[in-house]
Amino acid sequence: MKNIDSYTLRNMWTKFYSEKGHTVISSASLIPENDPTVLFTTAGMHPLVPYLLGAKHPGGTRLADVQKCVRTGDIDEVGDASHCTFFEMLGNWSLGDYFKKEQIAWSYEFLTSPEYLDIDPDRLAVTVFAGDEDCPRDEESAKLWMECGIKKEHIFYLPKSNNWWGPAGITGPCGPDSEMFFISDVKDCSDSCGPDCDCGKYLEIWNDVFMQYNKTADGKFEPLKQKNVDTGMGLERTLCILQGKKSVYDTDIFVPIMAKIRSLAAVSDIKAERIIADHIRTSVFIIGDERGVTCSNVDQGYILRRLLRRAIRFGRQLELASGALVEIAKTVIDIYKDVYPELVAASTKILDEISAEEERFEKTLATGIKEFEKLVFYQKGDTISGKAAFRLYETYGFPVEMTVELAREKGLKVDTDGFHEAYREHQQKSHTGAEQKFKGGLADHTETITKLHTATHLLHTALKRVLNDPDVNQKGSNITEERLRFDFTFGRALTEEEIAAVEAKVNEAIAADVPVVCEEMTVDEARKQGAIGLFASKYGERVKVYTMGTYSKEICGGPHASRTGDLGKFRIIKEQSSGAGVRRIKAVLE
Ligand code: ALA
Repeated sequence: MKNIDSYTLRNMWTKFYSEKGHTVISSASLIPENDPTVLFTTAGMHPLVPYLLGAKHPGGTRLADVQKCVRTGDIDEVGDASHCTFFEMLGNWSLGDYFKKEQIAWSYEFLTSPEYLDIDPDRLAVTVFAGDEDCPRDEESAKLWMECGIKKEHIFYLPKSNNWWGPAGITGPCGPDSEMFFISDVKDCSDSCGPDCDCGKYLEIWNDVFMQYNKTADGKFEPLKQKNVDTGMGLERTLCILQGKKSVYDTDIFVPIMAKIRSLAAVSDIKAERIIADHIRTSVFIIGDERGVTCSNVDQGYILRRLLRRAIRFGRQLELASGALVEIAKTVIDIYKDVYPELVAASTKILDEISAEEERFEKTLATGIKEFEKLVFYQKGDTISGKAAFRLYETYGFPVEMTVELAREKGLKVDTDGFHEAYREHQQKSHTGAEQKFKGGLADHTETITKLHTATHLLHTALKRVLNDPDVNQKGSNITEERLRFDFTFGRALTEEEIAAVEAKVNEAIAADVPVVCEEMTVDEARKQGAIGLFASKYGERVKVYTMGTYSKEICGGPHASRTGDLGKFRIIKEQSSGAGVRRIKAVLE
């Protein structure tokens, strides 16, 4: 087995797959565009959903990348040896090109070849889908693994709960998978010890998904038009195995971060150190993303706030001085500067946002603690009710974990179930309805959503032209059946005249009824032609450019209406602030 660092592993991956005829694409943004079903990119396949469903990708039918991912579902597990809220996923895809035979042979080659990871085949175990009413038992994959050299007794058949992947949101592409595990030196924990057991004997390295189904809104699995392969290897966990470490926090990525934390802390506590390392790393990537966000009380901004406030709370445990988190963030930026230059470009924003949130949280804590003291004074019995904890959270932004911690010091308990119930009730009342949020995902392109997407392009250019400011740039976009929402950088509110002029420009483009033309070209060519859009893509990478007469030219994945005349009448319903230097427009098509 090769003891390699993170740079070498990323490079090995892209080299291996380019040699197998794959186009290496850049990591997409961590903030999904036009997909309200999830807040963050959770897997390499997520930005590729339209292509897995059959749209043509400019890079061809074989793709590979290293994708930034955020998953916060297991946030409470962070602090153990392997959980992280941010990770990099090494992935490769066949979009209706090769299937099981090639993928399994290549997986085996990458894992065992002396040129690549050089893992002893006897230390590998694999799982395959055991079969059920939706999809048959995967004897084919088992046979292919055996032909490569995996021992029969190292092949395990497991049900859907283990060997099925997707969809990333509620609906979309999914299928049976085959996972690869490294068999560590620890003893079997029981007679039934196997890859489905998390005792530490079997360490997951890689997942090959054979994506053949589309899960529909009514829970059915429809066969996809094309058979795809979607794979994902967690960079941090694989490094941990290759470097022979017990925890991801001991790998080359985390060592400098952990050392920095230890140098700043007065007290040592491994769990708190890991939580801080993880949460600051994730926050740096969320703020520093090309579509980065700042703290708020909704959506991605809320998750960011939660991560930072948790880091601050655990920092108190280590007696970190104020300003320490910024120092830790600097170390994170330094580690990734060559791989993710966007972090360097955004470093001032990242560091400022972390210290601003630290200040805001200190104020919140001061008020919250006073309110908490009042609550304790009037408290009857030994359990603080969920409603009271929720009121502290709602009115003073006081995290429930903090209430629990302070209550413990006073010998009291908190009804956290009651808190979560009150929280859910509140969310159901205050949001436009959770179901609404799940409509309009990438896998769910209704006609209305497609039209709103096209209107978003016209709006983007109209804003640039009316405001006559080159710094007017897209910050975010979110589309539901009812409306489009567009965030852009601009320092002040728009006047009524400006709003009317923007509407008029978009309606002029609609009245002109020009065709929406899609062309593929390199990102450099697109830039040369004056296309707008996010330029996160690598030099030379092929992209789709949508042109609508002289009204718009923008890099985008699509899909779009075929003519601007299909859109109907465009109307802006709201213009408001969405954070410092960012405006938000909501608009409809009538
Ligand atoms: N999409 C698959 C995963 O995330 C590869 O495991």
